[in-house]
Amino acid sequence: MRLCLIGYGRVGYGFVRVLHRHGGWLAQRFGFAPRIVAVHDLRRGTVLAPAGLDLARLAAAWEENRDLGELGERGPGLDAFAVIRESEADVVVELTPTDLRTGEPAAGHIRFALASGKHVVTTNKGPVALFGKELLALAREHGVQFRFEGTVMAGTPLFSLVDFGLAAPIRRVRGILNGTTNFLLTAMEAGRTYAEALAEAQRRGYAEADPTADVEGHDALAKIVILANLVLEGDLRPSEVPCRGITGLDPAEVRRAPREGFRWKLVAEARRSADGVVAQVGPERLPLSDPLAQVGGALNALTLELDPLGAVTLVGPGAGPEVTGHAVLADLLAIHRGLR
Ligand SMILES: NC(=O)c1ccc[n+]([C@@H]2O[C@H](COP(=O)([O-])OP(=O)(O)OC[C@H]3O[C@@H](n4cnc5c(N)ncnc54)[C@H](OP(=O)(O)O)[C@@H]3O)[C@@H](O)[C@H]2O)c1
Repeated sequence: MRLCLIGYGRVGYGFVRVLHRHGGWLAQRFGFAPRIVAVHDLRRGTVLAPAGLDLARLAAAWEENRDLGELGERGPGLDAFAVIRESEADVVVELTPTDLRTGEPAAGHIRFALASGKHVVTTNKGPVALFGKELLALAREHGVQFRFEGTVMAGTPLFSLVDFGLAAPIRRVRGILNGTTNFLLTAMEAGRTYAEALAEAQRRGYAEADPTADVEGHDALAKIVILANLVLEGDLRPSEVPCRGITGLDPAEVRRAPREGFRWKLVAEARRSADGVVAQVGPERLPLSDPLAQVGGALNALTLELDPLGAVTLVGPGAGPEVTGHAVLADLLAIHRGLR
Protein backbone atom coordinates (compact mmCIF):
# COMPACT_ATOMS: atom_id res chain seq x y z
CA MET A 1 0.00 0.00 0.00
CA ARG A 2 1.50 3.33 -1.12
CA LEU A 3 0.52 6.38 0.94
CA CYS A 4 0.47 10.09 0.18
CA LEU A 5 0.22 12.40 3.22
CA ILE A 6 -1.39 15.79 2.66
CA GLY A 7 -0.64 17.85 5.78
CA TYR A 8 2.30 16.81 7.96
CA GLY A 9 1.64 18.46 11.32
CA ARG A 10 1.25 16.91 14.75
CA VAL A 11 -1.02 14.05 13.68
CA GLY A 12 1.11 13.26 10.61
CA TYR A 13 4.19 13.06 12.83
CA GLY A 14 2.31 10.95 15.42
CA PHE A 15 1.19 8.58 12.65
CA VAL A 16 4.75 8.16 11.32
CA ARG A 17 6.03 7.37 14.83
CA VAL A 18 3.31 4.78 15.52
CA LEU A 19 3.87 3.14 12.12
CA HIS A 20 7.62 3.07 12.78
CA ARG A 21 7.13 1.43 16.20
CA HIS A 22 4.55 -1.17 15.15
CA GLY A 23 5.46 -1.72 11.48
CA GLY A 24 7.23 -5.03 12.22
CA TRP A 25 4.23 -6.42 14.09
CA LEU A 26 1.77 -5.24 11.40
CA ALA A 27 3.83 -6.92 8.68
CA GLN A 28 4.11 -10.17 10.61
CA ARG A 29 0.49 -10.31 11.85
CA PHE A 30 -1.35 -8.99 8.77
CA GLY A 31 1.19 -8.92 5.95
CA PHE A 32 0.62 -5.16 6.03
CA ALA A 33 3.64 -3.00 5.11
CA PRO A 34 2.58 0.43 3.85
CA ARG A 35 5.12 2.76 2.25
CA ILE A 36 4.90 6.55 2.39
CA VAL A 37 5.67 7.67 -1.18
CA ALA A 38 4.76 11.37 -0.91
CA VAL A 39 4.28 14.06 1.74
CA HIS A 40 2.99 17.56 1.09
CA ASP A 41 2.78 20.17 3.85
CA LEU A 42 2.29 23.91 3.53
CA ARG A 43 4.82 24.65 6.28
CA ARG A 44 7.35 21.82 5.85
CA GLY A 45 7.52 21.40 2.07
CA THR A 46 6.99 18.51 -0.32
CA VAL A 47 8.71 15.25 -1.13
CA LEU A 48 8.00 12.48 -3.64
CA ALA A 49 9.82 9.18 -3.10
CA PRO A 50 8.36 6.31 -5.16
CA ALA A 51 10.48 3.70 -3.36
CA GLY A 52 9.13 4.82 0.02
CA LEU A 53 10.50 7.17 2.67
CA ASP A 54 12.61 6.06 5.61
CA LEU A 55 10.30 6.59 8.62
CA ALA A 56 13.06 7.48 11.09
CA ARG A 57 14.37 10.18 8.74
CA LEU A 58 10.85 11.46 8.07
CA ALA A 59 10.19 11.78 11.83
CA ALA A 60 13.59 13.43 12.38
CA ALA A 61 12.84 16.00 9.66
CA TRP A 62 9.68 16.97 11.59
CA GLU A 63 11.50 17.18 14.93
CA GLU A 64 14.31 19.30 13.45
CA ASN A 65 11.91 21.41 11.40
CA ARG A 66 13.82 20.64 8.18
CA ASP A 67 12.38 21.03 4.69
CA LEU A 68 10.99 17.72 3.41
CA GLY A 69 12.48 18.35 -0.04
CA GLU A 70 15.84 17.13 1.36
CA LEU A 71 14.46 13.59 1.76
CA GLY A 72 13.58 12.62 -1.81
CA GLU A 73 13.99 13.13 -5.49
CA ARG A 74 11.52 15.88 -6.21
CA GLY A 75 8.64 17.77 -4.79
CA PRO A 76 9.21 21.51 -4.44
CA GLY A 77 6.76 23.58 -6.45
CA LEU A 78 3.97 20.99 -6.60
CA ASP A 79 0.60 21.76 -5.00
CA ALA A 80 -1.54 19.20 -3.16
CA PHE A 81 -3.48 18.20 -6.29
CA ALA A 82 -0.30 17.65 -8.32
CA VAL A 83 1.19 15.59 -5.49
CA ILE A 84 -1.95 13.42 -5.26
CA ARG A 85 -1.91 12.95 -9.05
CA GLU A 86 1.80 12.29 -9.48
CA SER A 87 2.56 10.23 -6.38
CA GLU A 88 0.89 7.04 -7.70
CA ALA A 89 -0.34 6.45 -4.14
CA ASP A 90 -3.14 3.98 -3.45
CA VAL A 91 -4.32 5.93 -0.39
CA VAL A 92 -4.36 9.66 0.34
CA VAL A 93 -4.10 10.49 4.06
CA GLU A 94 -5.64 13.95 4.52
CA LEU A 95 -4.38 15.69 7.70
CA THR A 96 -4.76 19.43 7.06
CA PRO A 97 -6.34 21.79 9.65
CA THR A 98 -10.08 21.68 10.29
CA ASP A 99 -12.42 24.39 8.96
CA LEU A 100 -15.92 23.67 10.27
CA ARG A 101 -17.49 26.34 8.06
CA THR A 102 -16.22 25.33 4.61
CA GLY A 103 -14.45 21.98 5.09
CA GLU A 104 -11.57 23.33 3.00
CA PRO A 105 -8.87 22.74 1.98
CA ALA A 106 -9.51 19.11 2.91
CA ALA A 107 -12.86 18.73 1.08
CA GLY A 108 -11.26 19.64 -2.26
CA HIS A 109 -8.32 17.29 -1.71
CA ILE A 110 -10.63 14.43 -0.70
CA ARG A 111 -13.01 14.85 -3.67
CA PHE A 112 -10.06 14.96 -6.07
CA ALA A 113 -8.42 11.88 -4.55
CA LEU A 114 -11.63 9.80 -4.51
CA ALA A 115 -12.49 10.81 -8.07
CA SER A 116 -8.96 9.72 -9.08
CA GLY A 117 -9.72 6.24 -7.72
CA LYS A 118 -7.67 6.54 -4.51
CA HIS A 119 -8.84 5.53 -1.05
CA VAL A 120 -8.91 8.38 1.47
CA VAL A 121 -8.30 8.34 5.23
CA THR A 122 -8.78 11.55 7.20
CA THR A 123 -8.92 12.82 10.79
CA ASN A 124 -10.36 16.17 9.67
CA LYS A 125 -13.89 16.75 11.05
CA GLY A 126 -14.80 19.59 8.67
CA PRO A 127 -15.38 17.69 5.42
CA VAL A 128 -16.97 14.71 7.21
CA ALA A 129 -19.45 16.84 9.21
CA LEU A 130 -20.37 18.96 6.17
CA PHE A 131 -20.18 16.51 3.25
CA GLY A 132 -19.84 13.02 4.79
CA LYS A 133 -22.60 11.30 2.82
CA GLU A 134 -21.60 12.92 -0.47
CA LEU A 135 -17.98 11.83 0.02
CA LEU A 136 -19.01 8.27 0.89
CA ALA A 137 -21.16 8.15 -2.24
CA LEU A 138 -18.27 9.44 -4.34
CA ALA A 139 -16.01 6.76 -2.85
CA ARG A 140 -18.57 4.05 -3.69
CA GLU A 141 -18.95 5.39 -7.22
CA HIS A 142 -15.20 5.03 -7.76
CA GLY A 143 -14.85 1.67 -5.99
CA VAL A 144 -12.66 2.99 -3.17
CA GLN A 145 -13.00 3.54 0.59
CA PHE A 146 -13.40 6.77 2.57
CA ARG A 147 -12.56 6.26 6.26
CA PHE A 148 -12.48 8.75 9.15
CA GLU A 149 -12.03 6.86 12.44
CA GLY A 150 -9.93 9.68 13.91
CA THR A 151 -12.62 12.36 13.55
CA VAL A 152 -14.55 11.26 16.67
CA MET A 153 -12.77 10.03 19.84
CA ALA A 154 -9.46 10.04 17.90
CA GLY A 155 -7.76 6.63 18.25
CA THR A 156 -10.46 5.04 20.43
CA PRO A 157 -12.21 2.69 17.97
CA LEU A 158 -15.77 3.75 17.32
CA PHE A 159 -16.66 3.51 13.63
CA SER A 160 -14.98 0.12 13.33
CA LEU A 161 -17.10 -1.08 16.27
CA VAL A 162 -20.26 0.25 14.63
CA ASP A 163 -19.28 -1.12 11.18
CA PHE A 164 -18.12 -4.58 12.21
CA GLY A 165 -19.29 -5.27 15.75
CA LEU A 166 -22.98 -4.35 15.74
CA ALA A 167 -25.91 -5.92 13.91
CA ALA A 168 -28.85 -3.71 14.96
CA PRO A 169 -29.70 -0.01 14.53
CA ILE A 170 -28.43 2.40 17.17
CA ARG A 171 -31.29 4.34 18.81
CA ARG A 172 -29.28 7.01 20.53
CA VAL A 173 -25.69 8.10 21.14
CA ARG A 174 -24.66 10.48 23.90
CA GLY A 175 -21.21 11.31 25.03
CA ILE A 176 -18.34 13.48 26.13
CA LEU A 177 -16.70 14.20 22.80
CA ASN A 178 -14.41 17.08 23.73
CA GLY A 179 -11.52 16.33 26.08
CA THR A 180 -10.59 19.98 26.65
CA THR A 181 -13.93 20.96 28.17
CA ASN A 182 -14.04 17.75 30.21
CA PHE A 183 -10.61 18.61 31.62
CA LEU A 184 -11.81 22.14 32.43
CA LEU A 185 -14.96 20.90 34.19
CA THR A 186 -12.97 18.34 36.20
CA ALA A 187 -10.48 21.05 37.29
CA MET A 188 -13.28 23.51 38.14
CA GLU A 189 -15.02 20.87 40.24
CA ALA A 190 -11.75 20.45 42.17
CA GLY A 191 -11.82 24.16 43.03
CA ARG A 192 -10.00 25.99 40.21
CA THR A 193 -11.49 29.04 38.56
CA TYR A 194 -12.32 28.85 34.85
CA ALA A 195 -9.24 31.01 34.02
CA GLU A 196 -6.90 28.81 36.14
CA ALA A 197 -8.28 25.62 34.59
CA LEU A 198 -7.91 27.03 31.06
CA ALA A 199 -4.31 28.14 31.72
CA GLU A 200 -3.45 24.62 32.93
CA ALA A 201 -5.16 23.00 29.92
CA GLN A 202 -3.12 25.26 27.63
CA ARG A 203 0.11 24.43 29.51
CA ARG A 204 -0.56 20.69 29.05
CA GLY A 205 -1.34 21.11 25.35
CA TYR A 206 -5.04 20.16 25.73
CA ALA A 207 -6.36 23.60 24.76
CA GLU A 208 -5.45 25.84 21.82
CA ALA A 209 -4.30 29.44 22.35
CA ASP A 210 -7.79 30.34 21.08
CA PRO A 211 -10.05 27.85 22.91
CA THR A 212 -13.32 29.06 21.33
CA ALA A 213 -14.03 25.95 19.23
CA ASP A 214 -13.76 23.76 22.33
CA VAL A 215 -15.38 25.86 25.06
CA GLU A 216 -18.29 27.06 22.90
CA GLY A 217 -19.09 23.46 21.92
CA HIS A 218 -18.31 23.76 18.18
CA ASP A 219 -15.87 20.82 18.17
CA ALA A 220 -18.39 18.54 19.95
CA LEU A 221 -21.07 19.80 17.55
CA ALA A 222 -19.07 18.73 14.47
CA LYS A 223 -18.55 15.29 16.02
CA ILE A 224 -22.20 14.73 16.93
CA VAL A 225 -23.25 15.76 13.41
CA ILE A 226 -20.86 13.13 12.04
CA LEU A 227 -22.44 10.50 14.31
CA ALA A 228 -26.00 11.70 13.60
CA ASN A 229 -25.53 11.50 9.83
CA LEU A 230 -23.15 8.58 9.37
CA VAL A 231 -24.08 6.30 12.27
CA LEU A 232 -27.78 7.13 12.84
CA GLU A 233 -28.42 7.80 9.12
CA GLY A 234 -29.72 11.33 9.72
CA ASP A 235 -29.43 14.36 7.50
CA LEU A 236 -28.35 17.26 9.72
CA ARG A 237 -26.35 20.35 8.92
CA PRO A 238 -24.19 21.73 11.77
CA SER A 239 -26.10 25.05 11.68
CA GLU A 240 -29.38 23.22 12.52
CA VAL A 241 -28.12 21.68 15.77
CA PRO A 242 -28.68 23.59 19.06
CA CYS A 243 -25.28 24.12 20.68
CA ARG A 244 -24.19 25.61 24.01
CA GLY A 245 -20.67 25.42 25.45
CA ILE A 246 -19.45 25.62 29.05
CA THR A 247 -18.64 29.33 29.33
CA GLY A 248 -22.06 30.16 30.82
CA LEU A 249 -21.76 27.59 33.65
CA ASP A 250 -21.56 28.90 37.21
CA PRO A 251 -18.27 27.52 38.72
CA ALA A 252 -19.83 27.39 42.21
CA GLU A 253 -22.61 25.17 40.85
CA VAL A 254 -20.03 22.89 39.14
CA ARG A 255 -18.23 22.51 42.53
CA ARG A 256 -21.44 21.94 44.49
CA ALA A 257 -23.10 19.34 42.21
CA PRO A 258 -21.21 16.19 43.44
CA ARG A 259 -22.33 16.82 47.03
CA GLU A 260 -25.89 16.56 45.71
CA GLY A 261 -25.18 13.37 43.71
CA PHE A 262 -24.61 14.99 40.30
CA ARG A 263 -21.79 16.13 38.01
CA TRP A 264 -21.78 18.69 35.18
CA LYS A 265 -20.63 17.43 31.77
CA LEU A 266 -20.72 18.85 28.25
CA VAL A 267 -22.93 16.24 26.58
CA ALA A 268 -23.41 15.79 22.84
CA GLU A 269 -26.43 13.68 21.89
CA ALA A 270 -28.07 12.38 18.71
CA ARG A 271 -31.17 10.19 18.58
CA ARG A 272 -33.85 8.86 16.29
CA SER A 273 -37.20 10.58 16.87
CA ALA A 274 -40.61 10.74 15.18
CA ASP A 275 -39.26 13.79 13.27
CA GLY A 276 -36.14 11.98 12.08
CA VAL A 277 -32.69 12.18 13.64
CA VAL A 278 -32.17 15.11 16.02
CA ALA A 279 -29.07 16.25 17.91
CA GLN A 280 -27.93 18.77 20.49
CA VAL A 281 -24.86 19.86 22.46
CA GLY A 282 -24.95 21.46 25.91
CA PRO A 283 -23.97 21.19 29.57
CA GLU A 284 -25.98 18.62 31.55
CA ARG A 285 -26.20 17.83 35.26
CA LEU A 286 -25.82 14.04 35.20
CA PRO A 287 -26.56 11.71 38.12
CA LEU A 288 -23.32 10.13 39.40
CA SER A 289 -24.79 6.72 38.46
CA ASP A 290 -24.50 7.65 34.74
CA PRO A 291 -21.27 6.10 33.31
CA LEU A 292 -20.53 9.42 31.59
CA ALA A 293 -20.42 11.15 35.00
CA GLN A 294 -17.48 8.92 35.98
CA VAL A 295 -15.29 10.02 33.06
CA GLY A 296 -12.85 12.70 34.24
CA GLY A 297 -9.92 14.69 32.86
CA ALA A 298 -9.23 14.85 29.13
CA LEU A 299 -10.87 11.48 28.36
CA ASN A 300 -13.77 11.04 25.94
CA ALA A 301 -16.72 8.66 26.29
CA LEU A 302 -19.71 7.61 24.24
CA THR A 303 -22.77 5.59 25.22
CA LEU A 304 -24.46 3.73 22.35
CA GLU A 305 -28.03 2.55 22.92
CA LEU A 306 -29.51 -0.23 20.86
CA ASP A 307 -31.71 -3.29 21.06
CA PRO A 308 -30.98 -5.84 22.49
CA LEU A 309 -27.75 -4.65 24.14
CA GLY A 310 -29.21 -1.72 26.07
CA ALA A 311 -26.32 0.67 26.66
CA VAL A 312 -22.67 0.16 25.71
CA THR A 313 -20.20 2.81 26.85
CA LEU A 314 -16.78 3.34 25.29
CA VAL A 315 -14.17 5.33 27.23
CA GLY A 316 -10.77 6.35 25.87
CA PRO A 317 -8.43 9.11 24.77
CA GLY A 318 -9.99 11.59 22.35
CA ALA A 319 -6.96 13.56 21.15
CA GLY A 320 -3.18 13.59 20.86
CA PRO A 321 -0.84 13.15 17.88
CA GLU A 322 -0.01 9.47 18.38
CA VAL A 323 -3.51 8.54 19.58
CA THR A 324 -4.97 10.13 16.43
CA GLY A 325 -2.15 8.66 14.32
CA HIS A 326 -3.30 5.26 15.58
CA ALA A 327 -6.77 5.95 14.11
CA VAL A 328 -5.14 6.60 10.72
CA LEU A 329 -3.22 3.35 10.97
CA ALA A 330 -6.36 1.41 11.99
CA ASP A 331 -8.22 2.81 8.96
CA LEU A 332 -5.35 1.86 6.65
CA LEU A 333 -5.28 -1.64 8.10
CA ALA A 334 -9.06 -1.92 7.55
CA ILE A 335 -8.56 -0.97 3.89
CA HIS A 336 -5.73 -3.47 3.59
CA ARG A 337 -7.86 -6.26 5.04
CA GLY A 338 -10.85 -5.26 2.90
CA LEU A 339 -8.72 -5.30 -0.24
CA ARG A 340 -7.79 -8.85 0.46
N1 LIG B 1 -4.13 16.93 17.14
C1 LIG B 1 -5.11 16.11 17.53
O1 LIG B 1 -5.08 15.57 18.64
C2 LIG B 1 -6.27 15.81 16.61
C3 LIG B 1 -7.24 14.88 17.03
C4 LIG B 1 -8.30 14.55 16.15
C5 LIG B 1 -8.38 15.17 14.92
N2 LIG B 1 -7.42 16.10 14.57
C6 LIG B 1 -7.54 16.72 13.24
O2 LIG B 1 -6.47 16.21 12.42
C7 LIG B 1 -6.04 17.23 11.49
C8 LIG B 1 -4.56 17.47 11.67
O3 LIG B 1 -4.34 17.93 13.01
P1 LIG B 1 -2.91 18.39 13.50
O4 LIG B 1 -3.00 18.49 14.98
O5 LIG B 1 -1.85 17.54 12.86
O6 LIG B 1 -2.84 19.86 12.87
P2 LIG B 1 -1.51 20.73 12.60
O7 LIG B 1 -0.45 20.34 13.58
O8 LIG B 1 -1.96 22.13 12.50
O9 LIG B 1 -1.02 20.21 11.16
C9 LIG B 1 -1.65 20.52 9.97
C10 LIG B 1 -0.56 20.76 8.93
O10 LIG B 1 -1.18 20.91 7.63
C11 LIG B 1 -0.55 22.01 6.98
N3 LIG B 1 -1.44 22.57 5.95
C12 LIG B 1 -2.36 23.56 6.04
N4 LIG B 1 -2.99 23.75 4.86
C13 LIG B 1 -2.45 22.87 3.99
C14 LIG B 1 -2.64 22.60 2.61
N5 LIG B 1 -3.53 23.27 1.88
N6 LIG B 1 -1.87 21.63 2.03
C15 LIG B 1 -0.95 20.95 2.75
N7 LIG B 1 -0.72 21.18 4.06
C16 LIG B 1 -1.47 22.12 4.68
C17 LIG B 1 -0.26 22.96 8.10
O11 LIG B 1 0.69 23.95 7.71
P3 LIG B 1 0.57 25.43 8.39
O12 LIG B 1 0.83 25.22 9.85
O13 LIG B 1 1.58 26.23 7.68
O14 LIG B 1 -0.86 25.87 8.14
C18 LIG B 1 0.26 22.02 9.19
O15 LIG B 1 1.62 21.74 9.06
C19 LIG B 1 -6.90 18.47 11.80
O16 LIG B 1 -7.97 18.52 10.90
C20 LIG B 1 -7.38 18.22 13.23
O17 LIG B 1 -8.58 18.87 13.52
C21 LIG B 1 -6.38 16.41 15.37
